[in-house]
Amino acid sequence: MDKFIINGGNRIYGSVKIDRAKNSLLPVICAAAAVEGDCFNEDFPTYGDTETMLGIVSALGGKVKKENGGVAIDASDIKTGIFPRELFGKIRASVFMLGAVLARLGYAETALPGGCRIGARPNDIHLSALEKMGAEVRVDGDRLVCRCERLKGAKIDFRYPSVGATENIMIAASLADGITEINNAAREPEIKDLAGFLSACGAKIYGAGKKTIGIEGVKRLKGASYKPIADRIEGGTFYLATVILGGEAEICGVSAQNISSIINKTENSACKIYSFNDKIYLKCKGANNNLGLIRTGPYPQFPTDLQAQTAAYMSVAEGVGYLEETVFPSRFGYAPQFNSSTMTWLQ
Ligand code: UD1
Repeated sequence: MDKFIINGGNRIYGSVKIDRAKNSLLPVICAAAAVEGDCFNEDFPTYGDTETMLGIVSALGGKVKKENGGVAIDASDIKTGIFPRELFGKIRASVFMLGAVLARLGYAETALPGGCRIGARPNDIHLSALEKMGAEVRVDGDRLVCRCERLKGAKIDFRYPSVGATENIMIAASLADGITEINNAAREPEIKDLAGFLSACGAKIYGAGKKTIGIEGVKRLKGASYKPIADRIEGGTFYLATVILGGEAEICGVSAQNISSIINKTENSACKIYSFNDKIYLKCKGANNNLGLIRTGPYPQFPTDLQAQTAAYMSVAEGVGYLEETVFPSRFGYAPQFNSSTMTWLQ
């Protein structure tokens, strides 16, 4: 939507069902590119980013079909490792598909992903891990070219627990020769979810969700049906909206454990919170005391994707709150759009 029109001043009442997580769907689509066979993702909401990712699979020669609210992907016949320029540059997560394509075809070629020099952030963790697995990675003019005979299992120590790199390498390692060990892996719930999908396809993955993940490569992955987890960021956003405005809400699909970092920080503002399985019920009076210092970080720390919503809480609560962003330092772009009379931004 180009524009949201919001009539403020109301409390929140109601029940909401949270959609499948975009951050699970994207790596699951990447993993489907590594599979020879039909993969069906149930209950598939349409997001701009997932449409782009599906477009990339089609452009590589995969078959994508939407049916019964889900999407079927059959990448048995992917033929080319040359990613479409206009789509690849559109989303950062397209880099997550490099491992799948390289493992399948031994060749992947992309336009240079934003700021991509070898060894330079923000893709160094992805690329150096693929190199450790035996890929040759080089920049040729304005293209990034990756080649390998066959990827080999390796012991890989991430300098930072990158979510996308963990996913990329889990997929690549599932088809590599031998065993891969990823140390300092990301532990986000979406990592476990991707491991669930890959395992359903025949991959052998141990320890997903922990700091060290072990993957034993298999010769091929077969198709499977999967229903990715609900979106904890969307769930956390409804949770925060209720905490900020007051009201009574039932949030269905997301477990309280997956957003415990935000619940722990704000439970003083909620009069009642009950959670059972993947339902959260809360009744709130509206934002009261401010939250002190909140610092974002890799899971299980406070999620950067809920940082802006937390700034909304801080802007209406009593007293001062501080936000420190450690994951994507440039993520205060929304700040000027807040009413400057209620917020002070420290340099
Ligand atoms: C994923 C999520 C995104 C979330 C982020 C952090 C998806 C599709 N997106 O993004 O919503 O905000 O995790 O929870 O799942 N970095 C490097 N080199 C690399 C890779 C990353 O320096 O090779 C840096 C990034 O620039 C960033 C930090 O590491 O500063 C975290 O990035 P990463 O965990 O990789 O985030 P994404 O997987 O891109």
